[in-house]
Amino acid sequence: MYKKILLVYYSRTWITRKVAQYIEKVTKCDIEEIIDTKSRSWIFWYILAGRDASLKKLTKINNIQHNPSDYQILIIGTPVRDFTMATAIRTYISQNKNNLPSKIIFYCTMWSGGDRSTFQDMTHLCAQTPIWTIQFKTKEIIKNQFSQKLNKFLTNTI
Ligand SMILES: Cc1cc2nc3c(=O)[nH]c(=O)nc-3n(C[C@H](O)[C@H](O)[C@H](O)COP(=O)(O)O)c2cc1C
Repeated sequence: MYKKILLVYYSRTWITRKVAQYIEKVTKCDIEEIIDTKSRSWIFWYILAGRDASLKKLTKINNIQHNPSDYQILIIGTPVRDFTMATAIRTYISQNKNNLPSKIIFYCTMWSGGDRSTFQDMTHLCAQTPIWTIQFKTKEIIKNQFSQKLNKFLTNTI
């Protein structure tokens, strides 16, 4: 028996998490936070986060609690890092790419741009076209101006 939705996300400064928590509240989905367990100081992390993402490096992540293949729909949320997905999300997809449900959805958060290349990279890595993608600007999340767009998206897709 399949459960309906699993939402997997990574968030360093809680912006992508805010969207994840909203989707969890509305859809009652299961949720899994991916944590980059490689220890780095804040400043060192900031310098390396962009470089590691653009070099398509992998990292160490926490043990996951939910098997994505137990679900009908998998939503993956990531911040944009140097025009691609966060390293922790790249690692999650790499470790689970043979285990994904047939319906996947991507969302990303970003300052201004990079969503298209991020979604292309995620599609390529999953070897599967998402049924939907949606992007949010950091400032619309900070100002709580994302719920209307998100509600429309959830009503149309889930
Ligand atoms: C190292 C680094 C690289 C980033 N690269 C981009 C980028 O290419 N395009 C963009 O619009 N925002 C970029 N951002 C901004 C983040 O995507 C944005 O602040 C995001 O909402 C943070 O999400 P989080 O709080 O969930 O980690 C970057 C941020 C960092 C720290």
